[in-house]
This record gives sequence, C-alpha cells and structure tokens, in this order.
Amino acid sequence: MLSDSPPKNNQVLLIYYSFSGQTGVLLNRLTAGLKEQGVEVFFEKLKPVKHLRFPLSGFFRTYIMMLTTFFRVRVPIQDISPKCDQEYDLIILAGPTWSYNPSGPVLSFLDRYGKEILGGREVLPLISCRGYWKLHWWGLRNKLRKCGAHFSNMIAFSHPNPEPWRTVGVFMKIAGKNPERSGFISKHYSRFGHSSEQMEEARRFGIQIGEALKNNNQLAAINFQTDLALP
Ligand SMILES: Cc1cc2nc3c(=O)[nH]c(=O)nc-3n(C[C@H](O)[C@H](O)[C@H](O)COP(=O)(O)O)c2cc1C
Repeated sequence: MLSDSPPKNNQVLLIYYSFSGQTGVLLNRLTAGLKEQGVEVFFEKLKPVKHLRFPLSGFFRTYIMMLTTFFRVRVPIQDISPKCDQEYDLIILAGPTWSYNPSGPVLSFLDRYGKEILGGREVLPLISCRGYWKLHWWGLRNKLRKCGAHFSNMIAFSHPNPEPWRTVGVFMKIAGKNPERSGFISKHYSRFGHSSEQMEEARRFGIQIGEALKNNNQLAAINFQTDLALP
C-alpha cells in the first residue's frame, strides 16, 4: 500500500511520441482499459518542431535515420502544453525504441522537461519496439532516476513476427516499401507492428493499472512482462 502518497484524483497523463503509429494504437487500447476503471486520461503528444513524415522515402534515408538515432541525436520538440503542470496519479511516458535508445523526441522531452514534469512523480514507462527494448529500458531508467521520477514497473511490447523477417519488415516499412506485399518476404511477414491480441493485452494492462490506482496498490505488483506483450 502507498502510505504517504497525495490524495487521488483518478487522473492519468499520457506523454508520448509515435512515429509509425504503433505506440499510438497501444495507448488507445490501454486508455480504453483505464476508462473502464473510471480513470480520466489526458494526452500530451510530443510534436517535433520539424514534422517527421512516416514513411521515409527510400532505404538510404532509413539507413541514415538508423545511424543518427544510434548516437541518440535529439529531435527538437515544440513546447509542451500547460496540462503537463497539473497533478496526476500517474504519468505514462511512452514511445518507440530507436536504435536501442528512446526516440529523439522523448530524449528531447527528458532533456528539457524531465526534472520539471517527472521529478517526484509516479511514472510508468511504455516501450513499443520490434524486439530489442532492454538497452532502451536501461538508458531510460538512468534518465528517469536523474530526473527524480518514481517508477516501479514498465511496459514493453515487441512485434510478434519471428526474426529475421521482423527486422527486414520494419526496415522496409520505414523506407516506404510494402513488405506485406513483397513477393518472397510476404510469405513470412504478413503484418507490420503489434497484433490485435497485443492490443487486447494493452487494454487488460489499462484495466489492471486502473484497479491498482483505485485501490492504492503498487504498480510493481502487476506482471506486464507477459508472453503476449513480449512474445
Ligand atoms: C529509426 C528507427 C530505429 C529503430 N530501432 C529499433 C531498435 O533498435 N530495436 C527495436 O526493437 N526496434 C527498433 N525500431 C522499430 C520500432 O521501435 C517499432 O517499429 C515500434 O513499434 C514503432 O513505434 P511507433 O510506431 O510508435 O513509432 C526502430 C524504428 C525506427 C524508425
């Protein structure tokens, strides 16, 4: 039980970035679960100063993006809205993995606003990735600690396709090709991103989070590392 926590207002803030829509759809379902538990949800979408268009046009641009993101190049974001200054029971910080790191807009958010918005607050990170989230989580965890955020659990969803097809498929998709309709590859890769079963799992996680908030239970007690989320 949380003993010295401030009064509950049953409100959750989702701060997120999504490049190709996968984090967005997971949050959509998670929100449905939270709302089923009577939780009010507020959204703060991180908006790059210079809009990043998905997909990119071609393999060369994709390769360059993979390379720059590996070096954690920040993507400057627009100012965040005043709703981020309000009190919430929980802040969910969500976004994709980019070359084993948090995405550029999330890194910018942490640099600019991390201490101010997340410091002293209860934060639940959510990662959407094709399969390799552990280094991302390790780096993010260190950053959250430096911001003074309180966190006791995390959510990661990886794409359910087997390797090497999911890597090939994600690369092609980002480059603007259609792996689902590309001859030989389409035999092994029928869908980009998370499955409908994973969406349902995200809704179930939302319900569990809502229940924990209502009953003042620790989020640490919830098992988010299920076979569906991380196949
Ligand atoms: C530039 C870039 C680099 C990526 N690097 C990784 C990676 O290192 N590991 C991984 O598992 N997925 C990686 N991905 C895949 C995304 O994390 C994955 O497709 C995620 O579901 C996208 O979420 P979004 O649609 O919300 O942006 C990368 C995607 C992009 C665009």
